Amino acid sequence: MTDTPSSGAPDQTEWLTTSGGVRLRETDRSLKAGERGPTLLQDHHLREKITHFDHERIPERVVHARGAGAHGTFTAYGTAETVTSAGFLAEGRETPVFVRFSTVLGSRGSADTVRDTRGFATKFYTEEGTFDLVGNNIPVFFIQDGIKFPDIIHAGKPHPDREIPQAQSAHDTFWDFVSLHTEAQHHTLWNMSDRGIARSYRMMEGFGVHTFRLINAAGETSLAKFHWKPKLGVHGLLWEEAQMLGGFDPDFHRRDLADAIEAGAHPEWELGVQVFPDTPQQTYEGIDLLDPTKLVPEEIAPVQTIGRLVLDRNPDNFFAETEQVAFHVGNLVPGIDVTDDALMQARLFSYVDTQLTRLGGPNFNQIPVNRPHAPVNDMLRDGFHQDEVHRGVAPYHPNSLDAGCPFLAGDPQGAFLDNPVRVPETAKQREQPASFDDHFSQPRLFWLSMTPVEKQHIVAAYAFELGKVHEPAIRERQLQCLAEIAPDLCGGVAAALGLTAPSPKGELADPDPSPALSMLGGSYPPD
Ligand code: HEM
Repeated sequence: MTDTPSSGAPDQTEWLTTSGGVRLRETDRSLKAGERGPTLLQDHHLREKITHFDHERIPERVVHARGAGAHGTFTAYGTAETVTSAGFLAEGRETPVFVRFSTVLGSRGSADTVRDTRGFATKFYTEEGTFDLVGNNIPVFFIQDGIKFPDIIHAGKPHPDREIPQAQSAHDTFWDFVSLHTEAQHHTLWNMSDRGIARSYRMMEGFGVHTFRLINAAGETSLAKFHWKPKLGVHGLLWEEAQMLGGFDPDFHRRDLADAIEAGAHPEWELGVQVFPDTPQQTYEGIDLLDPTKLVPEEIAPVQTIGRLVLDRNPDNFFAETEQVAFHVGNLVPGIDVTDDALMQARLFSYVDTQLTRLGGPNFNQIPVNRPHAPVNDMLRDGFHQDEVHRGVAPYHPNSLDAGCPFLAGDPQGAFLDNPVRVPETAKQREQPASFDDHFSQPRLFWLSMTPVEKQHIVAAYAFELGKVHEPAIRERQLQCLAEIAPDLCGGVAAALGLTAPSPKGELADPDPSPALSMLGGSYPPD
C-alpha cells in the first residue's frame, strides 16, 4: 500500500474549504460590483479556484503516454535464490507492487486497441528499496543503441505537419525508418502479428528485453532475461475487432483491467528468468546477449519461474498514481544489475531526465506512488515540491555534526559496488559487434514458428499498413526486407498489394542456408 495523500482529500470534512482550510460560505458566484458586475479582482477565492484549474495539466509522457495502472502483490517462490541475492526474491517474500500498462505512440487520449507495442512496467516496493522492471509485451526492441531512440520515436509518432496518427493517414515515416534501419524488422514483425493488438492487458506477456546481470550471495554472477507469463494465456484481438473497439470503446483495455479487478477476477502473472553463464563474450548459443533486437528461444533456454504477481486493487486516483508514477531502469536492488547493452545504458539516463520536466522538479520520488517502502537517508535537499522537512545542519558525507548520521559507512551488502565487472582495455569507439549486423535470421525464426492463421494475419497486417504508404520507394524497400526475412511472407504481401515480389539478395539468395534457419525446428523453405 502506498500512503494516501492527506492534503486536499475531499472526505476530511463536511464543509468545502479553500486550499488553506478555511470554510467557504459560497463557491458558485463570484464577487462583483453590483448584481451585473464587473467581477472584482479582489475575489481571491475566485482567483484561487481558477488559477489552480489553469495549472491542472502536466506534460504527458513523451512515449507511453496512454496507460492504466493497478496495485498488487508479488510473492517469490525462492527459486531465484541460487542466482540472485535480491531480498524480494527470497522464498515466500511478499512485496507490494504498482504496475502500469501502456501503449507507446498514442497520446494520453488515444484509443487502447491500436496496433502498437504495449508497456508493462512494474514497481516493486521492496524492503531493500525500489526495483523497477520497465518492460514491454514484445521481447525485442527496434534499435540496438539508445542514441537511435529519438529517431525511431520521431518516425513512429503522428506526422509533424498535421499530427494525424499513423494508422489513419500516411505511414511513410514509420516504414521509411524500419526499411532503412533493418535492425527494426524483428520488432516490427512482432507488431504486425497478433501480439501487436493485445486482447487485454491481462492476457499479455511481459519482457525485460535487455539482459540483466544477477549476483548471488556468494558474489557469483550470471546473465538473465526477465519474462512475465499471464495466467490467462496470450491472446490478441482480430484486426476487425480492434478497429471496431477503437470506435465503440477507446477505453477498452483500461476498462477491462479495472472491471476485472473490481469483480474479483484478479489478473495474475508468473515472473520467470532465462539464465545464462556470465562469460566474457556475453553470448549464448551464438546469440549476442547485448543485442536487444535478438531473443533467446525458450527451446534452448527455458524460462524458470521465480514468483507470482496478483493485481488486486485499482488506483484511487488516476492522476496521483497512474499519471505520476515514475519508473526508472536504474531503480535496482542489490543482486540485480544492468549490463553494457547500449540501449539499456541510454535508458539509464533518459527516465529521470524526462521526469524532471514531467513531474516538475527533482523530488518526484516523494510523490506517494513513487515513495520507497524502505527507509530513505540521502543527501538530496531542497528543490521544487520538497515535501520532507529535513533535520540537521550537515547534508554532506562524512560529517561530524549531525547526531545519528555522522560517519555513516556504506553497507557492504548495498547496491552499486558489489559487481566489479572488468572493462576490457579498448579504444573509445562508436562501432558495434559484427553479429549486430544480422537483422533477418530472428524475424525469419518468428515467421517460421507461426501457424497458418497467424501467418494470414501477419500478411494482412503488412498489406494494410504498406497500402497506406504514399511513397512507392519506401514500400519497395520494405518488401525487399520481407524478401530477406521469408520469400513466402514477401510474396503474400506483394500479391495483396498487387505488386511483384522482389527476390532476396542476402542470406536466402545463398543455396546453402545457415544452421540458424532450422533453429526452431522449422525447415526452410517451409513445407
Ligand atoms: C517510458 C525512454 C526504450 C519501456 C519511457 C519514457 C521515456 C522513455 C522518456 C517516459 C517516461 C516518463 O515520462 O516517466 C526510452 C528510451 C529508450 C527506451 C530513451 C531507449 C534508449 C524502452 C524499452 C522498453 C521501454 C527497450 C522496454 C523494454 C518503457 C515503458 C514505459 C517507458 C514500459 C512506460 C513507463 C510507464 O508506464 O510510466 N521510455 N525508452 N522503453 N518505456 Fe522507454
